[in-house]
Amino acid sequence: MTAPIEIPNEVEIRGDRFVPFIDAQRIQERIREIADAINRDLTGSTPIFICVLNGAFMFFADLVRRITIDCEVDFLKLSSYGEEKISSGSVKLVKDLNCEVEGRHIVLVEDIVDTGYSIDFMKKWIAKKNPATLKIVTLLHKPSSTKITHALDYVGFEIPTKFVVGYGLDYAQKARNLPAIYILDSNHDNEQ
Ligand code: IMP
Ligand code: MG
Repeated sequence: MTAPIEIPNEVEIRGDRFVPFIDAQRIQERIREIADAINRDLTGSTPIFICVLNGAFMFFADLVRRITIDCEVDFLKLSSYGEEKISSGSVKLVKDLNCEVEGRHIVLVEDIVDTGYSIDFMKKWIAKKNPATLKIVTLLHKPSSTKITHALDYVGFEIPTKFVVGYGLDYAQKARNLPAIYILDSNHDNEQ
């Protein structure tokens, strides 16, 4: 038997304290529900699932392994937040898709929608490539901080406007490896 993955009680990054918020089991249960819905909704098509790097890598891997319909995968990379906890609002493409999008059913898989600028940029970018359809999946959504609203087809969890890390999401590139999601401790000075 392999040892279970270690789950820390708290995480400290650059003097900020993060505490458990969504545990690994709850994440997996929600992913199962989303995958079931996608399998149902896209039956009969062969979608291309697009992972938005880096943040979505863990969610993407867990989601696509529950996809039972015929599908393909590809990867897109946007410029990051840098070392800050607040969205810069400027989005740049660092790595484009390798696949042919025209006429295909595209499912864009994001870790989190915060201001909505990244989704806005990617929707326009992919739309120019003439897909048959474009659906958006995001594990997390912060509705109160969203400035550009787009329809999100599948949302894992709606969360408050607070910085979160773990399960692919980082703070200054740290904490992506954590198996669960942690939130900035509200009893602590350094709010988002
Ligand atoms: P948006 O363009 O403001 O919607 O931000 C989208 C991107 O910012 C996400 O794909 C994440 O990579 C990053 N991001 C937004 N909020 C958080 C957070 O709370 N923790 C870590 N990364 C975040
Ligand atoms: Mg992201």
